[in-house]
Amino acid sequence: MKATFKVYRFTPETDREPHYDTYTINAEPNERILDCLNKIRWQQDPTLSFRMSCAHGICGSDGLTINSQSALACQKLVKDYDYTKEILVEPLRYFCVVKDLIVDLKPFFERIKSITPQTPLSQVTVEPEKERIQTPEERSRFDDALKCILCACCYGACPVMTEQDEGFVGPAAVLREQRYIYDSRTTDAKERLEILKKPHGVWACKSYYMCTLVCPKNIKVTEAILRTKNKIITEQPKQDATGES
Ligand code: SF4
Ligand code: FES
Repeated sequence: MKATFKVYRFTPETDREPHYDTYTINAEPNERILDCLNKIRWQQDPTLSFRMSCAHGICGSDGLTINSQSALACQKLVKDYDYTKEILVEPLRYFCVVKDLIVDLKPFFERIKSITPQTPLSQVTVEPEKERIQTPEERSRFDDALKCILCACCYGACPVMTEQDEGFVGPAAVLREQRYIYDSRTTDAKERLEILKKPHGVWACKSYYMCTLVCPKNIKVTEAILRTKNKIITEQPKQDATGES
């Protein structure tokens, strides 16, 4: 069968504005969108630029906007979309385009770094005499957060980031902090919650659930954010809980 892809193209150094190129290729319903992009690049247009590495949903490098929703190109199949029509492939929203489908992820990693306390983890953990004991129940409190592959799909999907508060630290950053806040082996949860209470922190989230919808690892991202908000409310004086003074 034939499948047609309408692909965003932009080279900031030479193009005045972005445009779309259309490519029709032979593709099967079970083929991945990433395979189709590779076919386009190998068979029709070697100048098409996009990131990929593992091709198996591990590295998180091929986050794109496909038919207006964030997704990993290696995890989506042609049959996941209406392939009787053009399939629209664009870069992740929110980020600046470096070339075609490649975005600059610096703001993503800066945000994750910005909410991490400066004290090294080794100085805030309880040093055990033997191994660090943790019960299955204690571990299960942050199990979901460990699945994050830092693909940034949730940033491209979040209406707060794209339309309301571009300084919001973002779903993945809050999720990463939740991983430490709920870890029984660390002792700096209070400091981490203080950072999350600041402007553009956890209270900027309006629970649109788009992060949960698009997360390729099926992490309950919004639920993790709500748990963190709840922890702030229950553990801090009430007048501080909104982040307002
Ligand atoms: Fe990607 Fe999900 Fe992690 Fe967001 S929370 S960066 S969508 S894996
Ligand atoms: Fe690694 Fe898709 S290429 S997650």
